[in-house]
Amino acid sequence: MSRTFEGKIAVVTGGASGLGESIAKKIAAQGATVVVVDLSGSQDQVAAAIGDTAVGYELDVADETAVDAFEAWLRDRYGRIDVLFNNAGINGVMALSHEYPMDSFDKVMSVNTRGAFMVQRMGLRLMLDDGGAIVNTASIGGLYATPTAAAYITSKGAVVMMTKTAALEYARKGIRVNAVAPGIIRTPWLDGLEDDLIETLAQQVPQGRVGTSDEAADVALFLASDQATHVTGQIMLVDGGRSAG
Ligand SMILES: NC(=O)c1ccc[n+]([C@@H]2O[C@H](COP(=O)([O-])OP(=O)(O)OC[C@H]3O[C@@H](n4cnc5c(N)ncnc54)[C@H](O)[C@@H]3O)[C@@H](O)[C@H]2O)c1
Repeated sequence: MSRTFEGKIAVVTGGASGLGESIAKKIAAQGATVVVVDLSGSQDQVAAAIGDTAVGYELDVADETAVDAFEAWLRDRYGRIDVLFNNAGINGVMALSHEYPMDSFDKVMSVNTRGAFMVQRMGLRLMLDDGGAIVNTASIGGLYATPTAAAYITSKGAVVMMTKTAALEYARKGIRVNAVAPGIIRTPWLDGLEDDLIETLAQQVPQGRVGTSDEAADVALFLASDQATHVTGQIMLVDGGRSAG
């Protein structure tokens, strides 16, 4: 295993499950010190499974005061961060746009867009002196709409544009900002779906299967790594070819 991230301080939100957990484990295995952030309570277990180079931190990314306190904690403990995976996200209810319930819309936006923006803002502040890399988790849904998911699709479209805006703003300050955009990947996110529906979704993918969290995590790590030093403002799809045609 290469030690690509040796000496780096990495933060992963939504790190207790699915894609975030996979990212946290992979980047730790490549030498980083990793802060596993989540509101689920399981972040400490994931950190413990990684070992001494990981620590759990309980945070609701939608809570501005709590995000500010987390920034202060990181500054106090490390003085900076090098890599941020801004990955926490939730789904909304399924409904057509003319009937979409505003409480679900607000909830999704508060986590996926406002929360992600606050976490990105925090990461930028902690990288201003020494530079760094931010990888936001967008979605294929941020680029291609699907019916009955207006809140989620809208929230991830915003993540795409927030990524590009920050990439332009900080390109000369040594901070790269990219996004990984999964198609459908097998995480606890899919646990509520019937197997038949997952198979139907898989058949919409040219590869004939959904992806794994490890496959998406590998791309996220590439974007954060020194193998991608001339890559910024990009939205990298990990979708088994679904967006190709
Ligand atoms: N699974 C997919 O098919 C898929 C596809 C495209 C994009 N994504 C995106 O990938 C990211 C990770 O999703 P996943 O599939 O691993 O799902 P997941 O549910 O397994 O993991 C998401 C994690 O985020 C945490 N979280 C939720 N709200 C939070 C909050 N307010 N503050 C802190 N943590 C919070 C959850 O507790 C959970 O641990 C999400 O942003 C999601 O939108 C997933």
